[in-house]
Amino acid sequence: MGKISDALEKYKKERAVKTEPLPLNKPATSRELEKNRPAPIDFVMPETYSPKLITLSSPDSLDAENFKVLRAQILFAKDRKRPRLIMVTSVFPGEGKTFVATNLAASIAQGVDEYVLLLDCDLRRSTAHKLFGFSNLVGLSEYLRGEKELSDLFLKTQIKKLSFIPAGRPSPNPSELLASNKMKTLLHEVKNRYDDRLVILDTAPSQVLAEANVLSQYVDGIIFVIRAQKTPREAIRKGIELIGKDKILGIVFNDYQQPFKSYGQYYKKYYN
Ligand SMILES: Nc1ncnc2c1ncn2[C@@H]1O[C@H](COP(=O)(O)OP(=O)(O)OP(=O)(O)O)[C@@H](O)[C@H]1O
Ligand SMILES: [Mg+2]
Repeated sequence: MGKISDALEKYKKERAVKTEPLPLNKPATSRELEKNRPAPIDFVMPETYSPKLITLSSPDSLDAENFKVLRAQILFAKDRKRPRLIMVTSVFPGEGKTFVATNLAASIAQGVDEYVLLLDCDLRRSTAHKLFGFSNLVGLSEYLRGEKELSDLFLKTQIKKLSFIPAGRPSPNPSELLASNKMKTLLHEVKNRYDDRLVILDTAPSQVLAEANVLSQYVDGIIFVIRAQKTPREAIRKGIELIGKDKILGIVFNDYQQPFKSYGQYYKKYYN
């Protein structure tokens, strides 16, 4: 309890949220941007975050340590270039994609060098905002529908080097929005704007919906989440095949014990 309260206290002190300044004309580092950042004024940062953000709430736990290991494997792999645009996905709903994406983003941003942008691309059932204590009124779907500018979307989180773009209100046509040229341009923009920033995408399940497969074409690497002992082997094989194994950076065996969430017919098909 002591550690959680200390952590909460520490992050309560940094409560102001603001949008990120408009992108500069030339590529800059996130560190330079940080220096020139105006004083935060716009919103009040949520006072607290979910305990499920364990890299913050329980930094000394085994789970938090596991995220540090995952972070090191992504950032310091010997056999490949460091990926800049990473998506987290799984074949089915409720396997822990959001848990992994948010905690991985937080863990990387707590390191010394890397800045991180977490982009919630689950335009149907987004939940990443809840872990940071945000509502989900404006985000990616409003931008893709042309209702908001990119600069309106960035939120500062309780972690200094972690920015967040929520998914926004649920959209009736998420596959079309994510497959649009606007989305492609956005990913290119956020990936290449700052050379010391990693972008992490939280996505919808790959075998149930088309979105993750569309996004997989644009990313440098994929983290695949599997519910240990639950996700059927054949479904994993198919999921990896569909998404392309060349880009898979690693597989996370999430051993969390909680009933799977229902996803209508898909749930019945695969789990009954
Ligand atoms: N390792 C874990 N430890 C604690 N809680 C976890 C863990 N993994 C998942 N959970 C919890 O299980 C639930 C489902 O996880 P999560 O929302 O991350 O799954 P998801 O794959 O993103 O689901 P969806 O497909 O609906 O987006 C959440 O309440 C989450 O906090
Ligand atoms: Mg999710």
